[in-house]
Amino acid sequence: MQNLVSASVLSADMLNLESEIRRLENSGIDMLHFDVMDGVFVDNITYGLPILERVRSTTKMFLDVHLMITDPRRYIEKFAAAGADLISFHLESQSDTADTIKAIKSCGIKAAVAIKPATPAEEVLRYIPDLDMVLVMTVEPGFGGQSFIAETTDKVRAVRNKITELGLDTLVQVDGGINDKTAPIVKKAGANVLVSGSYLFNSKDMAVSAAGLKEEIIC
Ligand code: DX5
Ligand code: ZN
Repeated sequence: MQNLVSASVLSADMLNLESEIRRLENSGIDMLHFDVMDGVFVDNITYGLPILERVRSTTKMFLDVHLMITDPRRYIEKFAAAGADLISFHLESQSDTADTIKAIKSCGIKAAVAIKPATPAEEVLRYIPDLDMVLVMTVEPGFGGQSFIAETTDKVRAVRNKITELGLDTLVQVDGGINDKTAPIVKKAGANVLVSGSYLFNSKDMAVSAAGLKEEIIC
């Protein structure tokens, strides 16, 4: 299975975001992961629409927008207009899930639902036929640089099994604490889009680290 890497710019040097984006483009990174936090859904506040617009204006990279906000439905059209290629929102948010998926697709972009570590995989399974991707959080959303929660691996497996059973090619993304040690575990469980922030940005050679994350696992 071909694995993709989505680099979380939460770990980038924000004063030099443009050169950081050039670094991603030159390192074989497949997607730019843009974490939007509102300080209510999670305990942190990051960046939003104006920065996404500026990022869009400088790169053709696939923009993977992860909304960690209370009412994502309210902002779908705005994030799509700002340049998102895919929007992930949380099942635990206050927005209606089916309605929000529909809104994302009406904008002509890809849709994903994210689940926090404590949310059972079963709660997202029924939405799979309508989704391009499922995001299984492997840390508590809110901050970069946390340690991988091993118990989330079973949920990755449950999501992948359902996708296989349905004969679909829905992507399975993992986000949080992904590095050279944890990547083989999640890939074996069926993840094929790996978000990585601190590991990639702190590595000596981003291209080499990205290639390692993308390596196929022969089960
Ligand atoms: C956490 C964010 C992640 C985070 C990943 O809430 O959703 O995307 O930036 O960072 P690392 O790879 O450092 O765990
Ligand atoms: Zn994220």
